[in-house]
Amino acid sequence: MRNVKKRFEEVADEYDEEFVKLIPHYQASIEALINTIPFDENKEIKILDLGCGTGVVTKNLKELFPNSTVTCLDLSPKMIEIAKEKLKNYKGIEFFVGDFLNFEFEEGYDAVLSSLAIHHINDNDKKTLYKRIYNILNKGGIFYNNDRVEAPTNHLQKVYHDAFVNNLRKNYGNEKIEEIDKIADDNDIPSKLYEQLQWLEEVGFKSIDVVWKYYAQGVFGGEK
Ligand SMILES: C[S@@+](CC[C@H](N)C(=O)[O-])C[C@H]1O[C@@H](n2cnc3c(N)ncnc32)[C@H](O)[C@@H]1O
Repeated sequence: MRNVKKRFEEVADEYDEEFVKLIPHYQASIEALINTIPFDENKEIKILDLGCGTGVVTKNLKELFPNSTVTCLDLSPKMIEIAKEKLKNYKGIEFFVGDFLNFEFEEGYDAVLSSLAIHHINDNDKKTLYKRIYNILNKGGIFYNNDRVEAPTNHLQKVYHDAFVNNLRKNYGNEKIEEIDKIADDNDIPSKLYEQLQWLEEVGFKSIDVVWKYYAQGVFGGEK
């Protein structure tokens, strides 16, 4: 976890500019994530943004759900500082530096969202986190995760990887692509999508769905 924190402390300043180039259809995936929220746009809902980074998800959330209160949690103090600055004109947002594996969450959330963060923890920790998320949701509340996933076969792993690299070629040369690939290998622990859907079911979620997918990235979750 210390490596993950260090990496995001280092890239925080360039994050917003770089990630739209690194992640294919980044904005479309964030929109799909937010579209999963089943409540009226004017309702005062309580939302948790896990691994909020520089606050992209919360900014999109506050635009669509202006009366929501949002808890933003991230491991990296620098990412939280940037999020605070980006979101300074919005009301009803609280920020915490902490690890979602052991953070003492409040209860009573209507929605828990996470984007591109949970693939930094291993299978067992994901299962534990999914249970913790289930426990802090209100009945009828939802959890959706926009995340990197592992392919179920070697062939599909190659297909996913080729799609990722082809996207990188639009903005980077070979040397930089190799560097990005190595960083992903060293920092990411994606799990198979189908297994994660099963874990969600095991901890109690229903109406489980994959609402958006592009090769190695998917938006998936369910309802309590
Ligand atoms: C790729 S960024 C995604 C940021 C943002 N959610 C987005 O979609 O733009 C991943 C973020 O997850 C955070 N993160 C990773 N592991 C975490 C953990 N165990 N607890 C809290 N935050 C974590 C990192 O610090 C980083 O800011």
